[in-house]
Amino acid sequence: MSNFTFTMIKPNAVAKGYSGAIMNQIIMGGFRIVAMKMVLLSKAEAEEFYAVHKERPFYGELVSFMSSGPIFAAILEKENAIADYRTLIGNTNPESAEDGTIRKMFAESVQANAVHGSDSDENAAIEADFFFSRIQRFTKDGEIF
Ligand code: RTP
Ligand code: MG
Repeated sequence: MSNFTFTMIKPNAVAKGYSGAIMNQIIMGGFRIVAMKMVLLSKAEAEEFYAVHKERPFYGELVSFMSSGPIFAAILEKENAIADYRTLIGNTNPESAEDGTIRKMFAESVQANAVHGSDSDENAAIEADFFFSRIQRFTKDGEIF
């Protein structure tokens, strides 16, 4: 369990040209890329993706931000992927993120915080299904995720 997670490189980081550097951090951090695509979310798609946060005060701004420019979406594979990826990216607020984390290096603010990382196996599966069909996934052992 927990060998997969889902990530997005957010619009600010893509626009600033950080995608390659962030992908390098991900790969050097021991994660395999199972699936990846560049996509511009519509407002409706961003609303659906972030439906879990519908009641949060920042929902509207988050939806506008996430549909403001292209993102990279990806499925990543590693033992203990969910927890290890959240360690690699650091705290939601870059001011509290540890040195060397992706958010410390590339985030601008708590909203424009460079990357997304799933918070549970269940949500990783839901988020991966939102972007990728089965034939777009290339796992190490041909395992279905
Ligand atoms: P993520 O889902 O993107 O990996 O981030 P997270 O778990 O660390 O944070 P979460 O609580 O799930 O929030 C989702 C995204 O909403 C934006 N946010 N804005 N203005 C605010 O106070 C605020 N708080 C969160 C961030 O873009 C966060 O990543
Ligand atoms: Mg989250």
